[in-house]
Amino acid sequence: MARLALFFIVFFMYIPDWAEESFITQYEYGQMLYKNPRGIGCINCHGKKGEGAVIAAYIDDGKKVILKGPDIRSVSMKQLRRNLKSRHRIMPTYFLTDSEIRAIYTYLHEEQ
Ligand code: HEC
Repeated sequence: MARLALFFIVFFMYIPDWAEESFITQYEYGQMLYKNPRGIGCINCHGKKGEGAVIAAYIDDGKKVILKGPDIRSVSMKQLRRNLKSRHRIMPTYFLTDSEIRAIYTYLHEEQ
């Protein structure tokens, strides 16, 4: 019995340690959401790390049109939240929680 109790004590002391190592950082969580935010990834229109990207280039009425996703690296948390929750012409509306938006913000602002 004592040995069994000891096993459980050791077992439960071991778990938090292991769980901690498997947790991802805020940066990694943000990176994951940026690529796959339950919808089209931000990466497709705003580039690998928010620097902006060309979405499409086409000829309209003989004129070349380049459609771009803007650079969003210096966007504030407030702007980011407002933008993700509002409707746009090209950019989709997302249903992300505040902590998910904060993780994306961390990803865009932290150097790594
Ligand atoms: C289909 C392409 C597309 C996707 C996907 C997309 N965006 Fe955008 N985004 C745009 C375009 C185009 C604009 C500028 C015009 C507008 O508001 O529609 C924009 C504007 C923004 C702005 C405002 C920039 C400013 O200077 O005011 C932010 C912030 C932003 N996007 C963040 C995101 C994030 C974060 C994601 C992923 C969750 C995302 N976008 C996904 C195309 C996209």
